[in-house]
Amino acid sequence: MSGKNPVKIMETVLRDGHQSLAATRMRTSDMIPVLEQLDEIGYFSIEAWGGATFDSCLRFLNEDPWERLRTLKKYIKKTPIQMLLRGQNVLGYNHYADDVVTEFVNRAVDNGIGVIRIFDALNDVRNLEVAMRAAKKAGAHVQGSFVYTISPYHDNASFLKVAKDLVELGADSICIKDMAGLLAPYAAYELIKTLKADIPVPLHLHTHYTSGMASMTYIKAIEAGVDILDCALSPFALGTSQPATEALVAALEGHERDTGIKKEKLFPIADHFRAVKKDLAETFKLNTAIDIDTKVLTFQIPGGMLSNLLNQMKEQGMADKYPELLEEMPKVRAELGYPPLVTPTSQITGSMAAFNVMLGRYKIVPREVKDLARGKYGRTPAPVDPEVLKLIVGDEPIITHRPADDIPPQMQALREELAAKGYPNASTEDVLSYALFPEVALKFFEANRK
Ligand code: CO
Repeated sequence: MSGKNPVKIMETVLRDGHQSLAATRMRTSDMIPVLEQLDEIGYFSIEAWGGATFDSCLRFLNEDPWERLRTLKKYIKKTPIQMLLRGQNVLGYNHYADDVVTEFVNRAVDNGIGVIRIFDALNDVRNLEVAMRAAKKAGAHVQGSFVYTISPYHDNASFLKVAKDLVELGADSICIKDMAGLLAPYAAYELIKTLKADIPVPLHLHTHYTSGMASMTYIKAIEAGVDILDCALSPFALGTSQPATEALVAALEGHERDTGIKKEKLFPIADHFRAVKKDLAETFKLNTAIDIDTKVLTFQIPGGMLSNLLNQMKEQGMADKYPELLEEMPKVRAELGYPPLVTPTSQITGSMAAFNVMLGRYKIVPREVKDLARGKYGRTPAPVDPEVLKLIVGDEPIITHRPADDIPPQMQALREELAAKGYPNASTEDVLSYALFPEVALKFFEANRK
């Protein structure tokens, strides 16, 4: 029986769980056998779409992501299907025109999405406006999200301000998105108390086990009054994923925040996913046994990224400079205005730090770093260091307005492009796939639409 004030759970096994532990390789056929059972559990929502799943479907699995969504919806009838959207970036890495963002949201909701979690890597709410408005209009539950990070420019007051702006924009709930697992238990307690006192909508916490603190963080979050938590069924939990659903359900049994979920109903579903994980590891040659790594707390760089950077330096014969890189990374982050490290800002900051160490500071500056510094991704949390700004931007214009204001409508042109490539009757969904991942989508169409 649920408690007086039950904690609600978003199940992530169909999205973040396998994105974190199995390189987003779970196939629709791996999901179908348990979808109806998942629908009966009583989750707040089931996260099953968006994030990297869209790209992965087209690129690696020869699946149409839109078809996946329609299939999921066929089986998951009662529980809202949730997705993750990167604001004006949609699911890609650049800003898109407003008509692409709006159309994408419309098609997502039409095809079965019930809850849309929307965030921006810089917490620049101007980059969320269009997506949030579209989601609201399409009738979805709009979850305004901010990314959690640690810097001299981020504190509970600044997070509260972003959360209030998101409520102002019509958010039906607010999500704290702790993508790197940096949120410590007592910090979570204070942050959630602060938000609960001033935010009139439900509060949702998303974290990762990366640093090993997530279960402790959840308990303090529950004590502070958090409404909804993200968990993954145990085979796709822990490591760099979320805390385990069954364990949280069991931990709260008989407590006033009892979820009301029967853990015994979860066991057979977890057994199914245990077999799926084993199969994915074999089929795609994946290492799914990912340990926690508390070093993330010192460097604020997700573990996977640290090993990527180390590999790059090894390839350049500069592995001995790795300790310098670890020192350079926070320096670069400070100089670039303390961007939270999440896609795509983590890659941008990481590659700049690597270039600095290998070639000399700001000797060679990638395009994306220039764009981040001159405001093309939005407002950085702190101003970019003026010396560095001069050095890397030169006389390119600084952008202080909403970046997408510079992008003219794209849908019609994309449709024409696709027609010229031999797909005159492409569905709006296909046009959107092409908008986000042109080469990958074309290859997919080549194999599946002829
Ligand atoms: Co996540």
